[in-house]
Amino acid sequence: MIPVVRTKRALERLLARWRGKRFSVGLVPTMGALHAGHAALLRRAAAENDRVIASVFVNPLQFGPREDYGRYPRALPADRKLAAAAGACAVYAPSAAAMYPRGFSTYVEVKGLSDLYCGRHRPGHFRGVATVVLKLFNQVRPDRAYFGEKDWQQVRVLETMIRDLDVGVALVRVPTVRERDGLALSSRNAYLSAAERRAAPALRRALEAGRAAARRPRARPRMIAAAVRRALSGTGLKVQYAGVWDGRLLAAAFLGRTRLIDNLPL
Ligand code: PAF
Repeated sequence: MIPVVRTKRALERLLARWRGKRFSVGLVPTMGALHAGHAALLRRAAAENDRVIASVFVNPLQFGPREDYGRYPRALPADRKLAAAAGACAVYAPSAAAMYPRGFSTYVEVKGLSDLYCGRHRPGHFRGVATVVLKLFNQVRPDRAYFGEKDWQQVRVLETMIRDLDVGVALVRVPTVRERDGLALSSRNAYLSAAERRAAPALRRALEAGRAAARRPRARPRMIAAAVRRALSGTGLKVQYAGVWDGRLLAAAFLGRTRLIDNLPL
């Protein structure tokens, strides 16, 4: 079984061994509760690097005060197995106290981008993401890092951070992995009741309805977003936002207390 590395010092020892052999290193940052979407990131990383490390860290900085930090699924033994089977050589699982010791006071903010869509509804979220990802990059110093396109805005925020701060890591975008009924894989899908799970694929279908609207002559972003909203009415999903941005159609919706996001290229 692959090792679980818990401290920066143990991580440095492992990385020194790998660097001594001139191995390239791929990093797959995660918050755990790994699923087939993470496995796709890990397999891609394993195909492109000599060694792959999966980080598992539920990052308190990216959750709002009334969000699901406390109940976010934590499953390290299962994560370790899945990561190993998908090609990881180690799991890095630091504690929150080690990542954010007393006196921690430096944050990364990607202005503008972080205030749209998910950022508008989750103030501080992307600041938390950018800060932890830059820390992970500095700790692991990977050649490449792998992120899923399901979190499109996250990918764009991190690409901007990498460009603006001259971070020497290549970000690799990996396509969204879906269930057979179209639902994008997410660790939060575990929150859904059986009835909610049956309703959840409506989000992807609504995005497809929006995409169909986009193909009509003289389609405007507002009409496309309205088509998504219309397709969601009566499905049990409550739209938080739907919008056209960066060549994608993006939406977020609540099913009960569970927030789902998804996007499609236009
Ligand atoms: O996408 C995620 O799981 C998280 O936002 C990330 C990139 C691991 C940072 O905590």
